[in-house]
Amino acid sequence: MENIQELKSPFADVKAGDSIQVFAPATVANVVCGFDVLGFAVNEPGDEVIMRVTNKPGITISKITGDDGRLPVDPAKNTVSISVKHYLESIDRTDLGLDIELHKKMPIGSGLGSSSASTVAGLFAAKTLLGDNCDPIKLLPFAMKGEEMACGHGHADNVAPALFGGFVLIRSYEPLDVVRLPHPKGLYCAIIFPDVDVPTREARQIIRTKINMKDAVTQWGNIAGLVSGLFMGDIDLIGRSMQDVLVEPVRSMLIPDFYKMREMAMELGAVSFGISGSGPSVFAFTRDEATAHAITQKLRQHLTHIKIGSNGYVSPINDAGPRVIG
Ligand code: HSE
Repeated sequence: MENIQELKSPFADVKAGDSIQVFAPATVANVVCGFDVLGFAVNEPGDEVIMRVTNKPGITISKITGDDGRLPVDPAKNTVSISVKHYLESIDRTDLGLDIELHKKMPIGSGLGSSSASTVAGLFAAKTLLGDNCDPIKLLPFAMKGEEMACGHGHADNVAPALFGGFVLIRSYEPLDVVRLPHPKGLYCAIIFPDVDVPTREARQIIRTKINMKDAVTQWGNIAGLVSGLFMGDIDLIGRSMQDVLVEPVRSMLIPDFYKMREMAMELGAVSFGISGSGPSVFAFTRDEATAHAITQKLRQHLTHIKIGSNGYVSPINDAGPRVIG
């Protein structure tokens, strides 16, 4: 083929025209009591990136779909290209040319880790295209840079589970210490996204920066209880530990009928109910798929009744993380 330039790589021979398509999943961060330290991945929704090697060094974005024109196509301003640029710098491959197509398959500002799914899809595409067999943990700091740009804070509780799959604890940010947690089989997640805008940046600004000791004791008891429940496969313990006295009381005000939706979900047999990430999405854990579907359906009906559009998703915890789809 004309214009095909052989490019050197320490990992694999890549040449202009090579391409890959990657899916990365949505994530539920915080998991109610673990603000900024807990998250898990789900099977759907998620974002897709198509990445192509070009013959001109640098990163370009040729197309973004599904974003209603909200995301920047300027590679200096887009979280996907910025994260990939940092990754290429780290492996000394700024000589490479990469073009990115981003296909948003999930709502922006939903509390489902929308920017994380895009960023992780881009990083995983670049790593795989280059045949870089590094542990995905190496990509985490680059993904966190994307989060910092998207909402002003580089938290890892969406990007880490999007990257590794499964349930993840950020034990420490400095130094970064990430622990993959087990989870009981059969745990299902019902997600309802009410169509109202809650940007993470703003949802972070409204939370208290100082907390009292009594609340702190309640919160760390619950986090320890949730993590113990995950290890023990004790779904009752998981359920009763998922209480948040610090963040939810403030953020729930941004979500239409939050407490009514909780009551309805618990009546239908949910194990627990809370805000996904910074909202407005809410989620419930259930012991089976049928209950998750029943909750999604009922809560969406309620939102329709109060004239709010919504989306619903039902998924087990996704242990695979990102995957190559083309
Ligand atoms: N931990 C972050 C927050 C997640 O709650 O602000 C954002 O999705």
